[in-house]
Amino acid sequence: MKIAAILAFSMLVVLANAQGNYKKVCYFANWARYRNGSGSYWVDKLDPYECTHYIYGFAVLSNVTYEMTVYDPWADIDLGGYATFTGLKTKNPSLKTLIALGGWNDSAFSTQYSELVSDPVKMANFVAKALAFVRQYNFDGLDFDWEYPGDPGKPEDKDNFTTLLRMLRDAFQPYNLILSMAPSCSSARAAVSYDIPALGEIVDFVNFMAYDVHGAWENLTDHHAPLYRRDFDDDSSDVIVSESVDYWLDQGFPPQKLVFGLPSYARSWTLADPNQHGLLAPAVGAGVAGQFTGLKGFYSFYEICLFQQQGMTVVEDPTGKMGPYGYLGDIWASWDSIDMVVAKVKYMMSKGLGGVQFWELSLDDFNGHCNLGLRPFSKAITETLGGTFPTPGPTPPPPASCSASSQGQYYADPSDCAKYYQCVNGIIYTFYCQTGLVFNSKINQCDWPYNVAGCA
Ligand SMILES: *[C@@H]1O[C@H](CO)[C@@H](O)[C@H](O)[C@H]1NC(C)=O
Ligand SMILES: *[C@@H]1O[C@H](CO)[C@@H](O)[C@H](O)[C@H]1NC(C)=O
Ligand SMILES: *[C@@H]1O[C@H](CO)[C@@H](O)[C@H](O)[C@H]1NC(C)=O
Ligand SMILES: *[C@@H]1O[C@H](CO)[C@@H](O)[C@H](O)[C@H]1NC(C)=O
Ligand SMILES: *[C@@H]1O[C@H](CO)[C@@H](O)[C@H](O)[C@H]1NC(C)=O
Repeated sequence: MKIAAILAFSMLVVLANAQGNYKKVCYFANWARYRNGSGSYWVDKLDPYECTHYIYGFAVLSNVTYEMTVYDPWADIDLGGYATFTGLKTKNPSLKTLIALGGWNDSAFSTQYSELVSDPVKMANFVAKALAFVRQYNFDGLDFDWEYPGDPGKPEDKDNFTTLLRMLRDAFQPYNLILSMAPSCSSARAAVSYDIPALGEIVDFVNFMAYDVHGAWENLTDHHAPLYRRDFDDDSSDVIVSESVDYWLDQGFPPQKLVFGLPSYARSWTLADPNQHGLLAPAVGAGVAGQFTGLKGFYSFYEICLFQQQGMTVVEDPTGKMGPYGYLGDIWASWDSIDMVVAKVKYMMSKGLGGVQFWELSLDDFNGHCNLGLRPFSKAITETLGGTFPTPGPTPPPPASCSASSQGQYYADPSDCAKYYQCVNGIIYTFYCQTGLVFNSKINQCDWPYNVAGCA
């Protein structure tokens, strides 16, 4: 009886971790839907087979009730954000969907999280309501993203956060709900914020934020996610993400509970002098906002491709210790290329860690701007883990006639890659792509053949 139960349990684990037994945890940012034009990204674009775990960012902490609260009721509830997200499980039953609480904007500028963990009454109420929240919206668990215990806050936050997580774990256990958290990769920060051995016992896994080590809050350019120590890192306090992993493991954190983070975005600076464009070049603030993401100092993976198409010079690290950087005029940015993604996933496997996570799905190239196929960042992770990346299913034939519900709808021709159709005011019109291009139904546009499965 016992053996049968153990067997059944281990089969479940194998199914849940279909990508070569590793977790592939993918964050989704609900504000990506407000980006302009083709930069907009919403739950209808999620593929139930792309990741083993999806995490929806973010729910927030009310500074009145100290309970978990829906952040954007219009998008998350009225437009079905949560429901579509958790509904992916109907297509892939081994998929896990979690709700993340907090994030930078909700936790880095106020002491409400510190107030929560300082008060046993608030904590007990929080835990009961968080359990109800997760169950009401059909999530499989909670990812706690407080950035960061003790700052802003008090020295006791470290212990009291541990207490809160233990209470959550105890409340979640009877329902088999997952508890994860997202720690900073700075070891100095960890010393202030995290009781690492206790976390190793309490949480199911941590989504190790192995990025944002440098940014435009500093006045010198640098790579924001260096894997290994570079020649110029002469100070032991420099944050190097592989050394941060070693710090956690040295404190007894179980390696299989450490999910290593990858950034599908760049950090950027404005150079003080465009002629000084190397590493550690003087900078005078954040790089100009990206045309789709619209935040200074930050570019999506695909916006870096667009800069390259405008002539950005890219410099690769010949020693493979970090990803590339690039400059264009006074813009300077650093990021992880596909080669670096592959290298980091292999590093994760060599350390016996539990898998990888990345921030964030809408920053991957889901439109094919980079000419690397769709979602190249995510695809490189899956393929390095030994999994199979989902490919689009067979093209359905165009309808015999157009209805009101198919108004504006495009259809690819199943037998001619260059031919497509559109329903306009009840009439089906036929179109052809210009020579050399084929119709891509993912973006409803003519595209390079290598971006469309079966048309190359
Ligand atoms: C609580 O949050 C609201 C909105 O997020 C903010 O305007 C208000 O100042 C906060 N109150 C306190 C006491 O921090
Ligand atoms: C976070 O805060 C920044 C700065 O105030 C703002 O520009 C950005 O839109 C915020 N993001 C979200 C998701 O609220
Ligand atoms: C917070 O932690 C301190 C010890 O660091 C402890 O004395 C205090 O009772 C804790 N508070 C709560 C609410 O658990
Ligand atoms: C750059 O930042 C460092 C550390 O914060 C500071 O010591 C230095 O004066 C700054 N340099 C300039 C040119 O602002
Ligand atoms: C979106 O487009 C509007 C209007 O053109 C513009 O004002 C806004 O800055 C754009 N947003 C981003 C994030 O680029």
